Amino acid sequence: MLRIGVLVSGRGSNLQAIMDGIREGKIEASLELVISDNPQAYALERCKKHGVNFKVIERKSFKTKKDFERAMAQELKERGVELVVLAGFMRILSKEFLNFFPERVINIHPSLIPAFQGLEAQRQAVEFGAKLSGCTVHLVDESVDGGPPIVQAVVPVLPEDTAESLADRILSYEHRILPQTVQWFAERRVKIEGRKVIVEGARYGEVPINPALERF
Ligand code: GAR
Repeated sequence: MLRIGVLVSGRGSNLQAIMDGIREGKIEASLELVISDNPQAYALERCKKHGVNFKVIERKSFKTKKDFERAMAQELKERGVELVVLAGFMRILSKEFLNFFPERVINIHPSLIPAFQGLEAQRQAVEFGAKLSGCTVHLVDESVDGGPPIVQAVVPVLPEDTAESLADRILSYEHRILPQTVQWFAERRVKIEGRKVIVEGARYGEVPINPALERF
């Protein structure tokens, strides 16, 4: 069983989608630890409710970013975490942290990267006048929301959309592609060839929206 750790900063609805996927048997992984850098995060209430191990590790408790990241990596390593999932974790991780989990840190971002990277991606899409946006699960590298995509879901932007209404529409797809990606890792189907991430057996080319949303 794939051992996963999830990093959060806020509401934790993507964390909830992962917890639900595990409970329903759609994700064959064990959630070993949730780390929040924010003691007020609602995600922590979700952990308490579902009996999931969690730790609050705040940046301000450490002198340097390096020490902060080392503390997180140490907790994850102690629990044998193999895949680190950033689910609304609002900090940029350094190369040093990533080196603890080579090619095994993934992030969900609410746009079709490389469009609308950084904060408030949904507002950026509405203000740009985009007709399509979506969400991306990608491997994390040192760039900000710029690592190689694993899966992307396309979501229409309606003329009457606000940042909030678009965010809600995109979120329902985030809740599908993030659990699906975790399951792909659990099934050991994710192959990485430089910038190209290939999910073995995915039906690329069949659907315009994204490859093989098989179960979610
Ligand atoms: C999600 O929309 C996620 O894509 C976004 O934050 C939200 C967290 O929601 N992440 C980013 O913008 C990262 N750059 P959640 O806490 O309910 O999962």
